[in-house]
Amino acid sequence: MNSISLENTELIKAVFFILLAFLSMFLVLILFFYFSRKKIVKQEIEKKNLEIDYQRALLNSILITQENERQRIAQDLHDDISSKLNVVSLNSYLLKTPNLSEAEQTEITNNIIDLTQKALENSRRIAHDLLPPVLEKFGLSAGIEELVEEYNSTKATKVNYKNSILFNDADIDRNLHIFRILQELLNNSVKHGKASLISIEFTTLEHQNMCTYIDNGVGFDYLDEDNRKGLGMRNIESRISFLGGKYTITSKPNEGVKIVFNFV
Ligand SMILES: Nc1ncnc2c1ncn2[C@@H]1O[C@H](COP(=O)(O)OP(=O)(O)OP(=O)(O)O)[C@@H](O)[C@H]1O
Ligand SMILES: [Mg+2]
Repeated sequence: MNSISLENTELIKAVFFILLAFLSMFLVLILFFYFSRKKIVKQEIEKKNLEIDYQRALLNSILITQENERQRIAQDLHDDISSKLNVVSLNSYLLKTPNLSEAEQTEITNNIIDLTQKALENSRRIAHDLLPPVLEKFGLSAGIEELVEEYNSTKATKVNYKNSILFNDADIDRNLHIFRILQELLNNSVKHGKASLISIEFTTLEHQNMCTYIDNGVGFDYLDEDNRKGLGMRNIESRISFLGGKYTITSKPNEGVKIVFNFV
């Protein structure tokens, strides 16, 4: 009888220790999951904060660009249009002066015609800068061809352009984003990269529109803070994000630049 109760006590003890071991293991597991979950949540919050900072920086650069653009347009209007129209207005009043000789009348009229012509040319140029008419009239591909032609005519750079995409020419806003991206890339390749050969290629890969831009210039370290102070590259980033796309930049000093971006 005694030995049976001893065995029972041993059994209860064993069950108790096993339960205790399971319980401790369970507790350790819960604590492990709790802390690793906390770490993951913390990492996610940090990632979200970084994304918010990045979006804020992009928005800021858009606002700065808009402000610069407004200033430039205001300056152009003031210097190239208003000042000319002022002189036209003065000349028109002069025409009212009594007893003007025929020669004086001709001189004043010629002045008015000349200045009006210049003001007209300038207003056309300002409008052209805001929205290149070729984009509206003939579409994005023609606009890019015209841009490429402008660079090729300088003979300092050779730009090759290939396109196998049918752009939606009704979507002027999106087309203008793509056009401005290429304008800035070309500008940078010539200004900073001193590139002599540039290639622009639009292709479709797995239903995604892709643009591959390559120059053979001096290249640069994109991660270097000094190269992130300009507005050009940041504008390109925000335009690609407006287009619902992503981009990669591959470049090292003396190895040219390769930029690939996709868009919907
Ligand atoms: N194709 C390139 N080849 C060599 N360096 C480049 C090229 N593109 C950009 N960079 C470097 O990256 C920097 C940032 O370019 P970004 O266009 O943002 O500014 P920026 O051209 O200096 O000024 P902004 O475009 O605002 O007038 C440039 O100053 C240049 O050093
Ligand atoms: Mg630039």
